[in-house]
Amino acid sequence: MSDNTEHRTKRERISIANQVYASYPLFKQILDDIDSCHDSPNIKGDDDPDCLLLTGTTGAGKTTIYKTYAQNYPIRETEEGIVVPIIYAKIPAAATVKGLVKVLLKAIGDPLYSKGTTIDQTDRLYGLLNNCQVELIFLDEFHHFIDSDSNKVLKNVCNWLKTLILETRIPIVLFGKEESQNILTVENDNLHLSRRFNYRHSLVPFPLTESKAEAESKIESKTVAIPESFRKFLSVIESKLPLSMKSDLAEESLADRIYYATDGTIGHVMTLIRKGATGNVLNLWKEVSEKQDIAERKKNGIRTCSVPSLSK
Ligand SMILES: Nc1ncnc2c1ncn2[C@@H]1O[C@H](COP(=O)(O)OP(=O)(O)OP(=O)(O)O)[C@@H](O)[C@H]1O
Ligand SMILES: [Mg+2]
Repeated sequence: MSDNTEHRTKRERISIANQVYASYPLFKQILDDIDSCHDSPNIKGDDDPDCLLLTGTTGAGKTTIYKTYAQNYPIRETEEGIVVPIIYAKIPAAATVKGLVKVLLKAIGDPLYSKGTTIDQTDRLYGLLNNCQVELIFLDEFHHFIDSDSNKVLKNVCNWLKTLILETRIPIVLFGKEESQNILTVENDNLHLSRRFNYRHSLVPFPLTESKAEAESKIESKTVAIPESFRKFLSVIESKLPLSMKSDLAEESLADRIYYATDGTIGHVMTLIRKGATGNVLNLWKEVSEKQDIAERKKNGIRTCSVPSLSK
């Protein structure tokens, strides 16, 4: 429970609940690795910078990683001009070089981002990256480097990205769906781009582990348990939520229910908790029980349509 909860208005509580986040071991590891990439041009001298690929299902928390990292690197005004340490852009669907340059120019603040030929735009982008002292580039939706009709990797944009890294020596952090991993492979002839991405992570839902008692007694495991890291995550979230009474989110039985109602996917967990936290905590219990019930009935092949499942 956070301090001064009873003095907050409902609007304030909703706003806090929507922004609350908690770190977990992989979250921290990824932030540390992004930091290493960010630092790599200073450490590696003339060598190419280190880059990072983060893949994960929808709602796994990729964009949240960016938001958390970027908080420490705001745009600032100096005597020499505006400094933009980090830029973030979403790769448009069916990526083209022109579309990619455009979103990057827009992200850096060029009002004429659409103007000029692709070569002019690329030159302008290089100039702006240098003038604005950009240190790190985040590119989201990397799976758009795969053509969805033919399932082929779009070579033009891969080559353009490789040249951007070589020419500017700015580290790149790529985010995308799991299939993005296929882009950076030898089979796809992408060794030149691939070997710059030394750091790779996959954000998956909290995985089930073997139950503690069975692990300790060395019996061959037959059942699985909710991971301790999931309960820790819930406990940190609860400590930051603007609740007027304790909700015991991390208590074993409620944590189990939340896990089964959400498949351990952070996005689903947070949707459920935020709804509960901004309304009535008791409703959270009821909702979780209903969702779990539905999840179980679905597993047993019984159809239901009374409450929509969060995993849809
Ligand atoms: N560490 C965290 N603590 C609390 N909430 C989190 C955390 N990570 C993610 N979330 C929440 O989960 C939801 C989904 O996260 P996010 O948008 O980062 O996922 P994503 O992987 O970028 O999804 P998509 O692929 O659909 O863009 C958001 O509401 C976000 O606030
Ligand atoms: Mg996202």
